[in-house]
Amino acid sequence: MNRIPRHVSIIMDGNGRWAKARGMERLYGHKEGSESVRATIEFAAENRIEYLSLFAFSEENWNRPEDEVNGLMQLMVDAIAAETATIMKNNIKFRAIGDLSKLSEDIAKKIYNAEEMSSHNTGLNLIIFLSYAGKWDILQAAEKYSEEVLRAYQDGRTLPKLTADHFNSLLSTKGIPDPDLIIRTSGEQRISNYLLWQSAYSEFYFPEVLWPDFRKTHFQQALDIFAQRERRFGKTGDQLNNS
Ligand code: IPE
Ligand code: IPE
Ligand code: MG
Repeated sequence: MNRIPRHVSIIMDGNGRWAKARGMERLYGHKEGSESVRATIEFAAENRIEYLSLFAFSEENWNRPEDEVNGLMQLMVDAIAAETATIMKNNIKFRAIGDLSKLSEDIAKKIYNAEEMSSHNTGLNLIIFLSYAGKWDILQAAEKYSEEVLRAYQDGRTLPKLTADHFNSLLSTKGIPDPDLIIRTSGEQRISNYLLWQSAYSEFYFPEVLWPDFRKTHFQQALDIFAQRERRFGKTGDQLNNS
């Protein structure tokens, strides 16, 4: 049985409430959340998790007050700059996924540089979902497919029936295994337009802890709970026990 999930994904939620509870600005919570990100990456690397993905900013988050969006973007820039050395030292392969065309040129460039520099690393795959939405991803895949259909039509070819495997290869997560475990902090129990297609058989875990308080012990607890789950993929429990 697979006790250690190959791909853990985290919806990092609760920064605003964490700050509010302390009478502070929301941005203060986001800042504190960077510490949790560091601890989480370290834990994933130490426990030989192959893929760690973090939902950092959703397509819908662009609708937040301008000050908060700008503050969050500045934090991303600072975080990438601060973590670059750690990424290289720990052999981490970094990638950002989402509608990056909406980012400022400066941030896009910094992301691109970090991706390039770490592209030959062979340790933990670290994926940051930024300006991402599950529906956006499915739509851009559908658009790519419609272009394939058009090209085939122009060439007088007919395409084989569209399969899930082929559709997977058109998604922005191409080549990344689907998340085995999705953790959402702060007690909210919803997907908020995150990995809609890719979470078809993910296990979900919703701890109450707010993201700025999330540390290695919380991550370990999530792994312990995951290890107790029985993933049936549509089969019966008996079928799994006999195989
Ligand atoms: C998560 O914390 C960070 C982002 C969505 C960018 P929130 O900012 O959503 O915190 P709450 O949910 O308001 O507490
Ligand atoms: C989801 O959190 C997005 C991220 C954590 C990046 P939100 O706080 O934006 O989600 P809702 O609006 O409460 O569903
Ligand atoms: Mg939230």
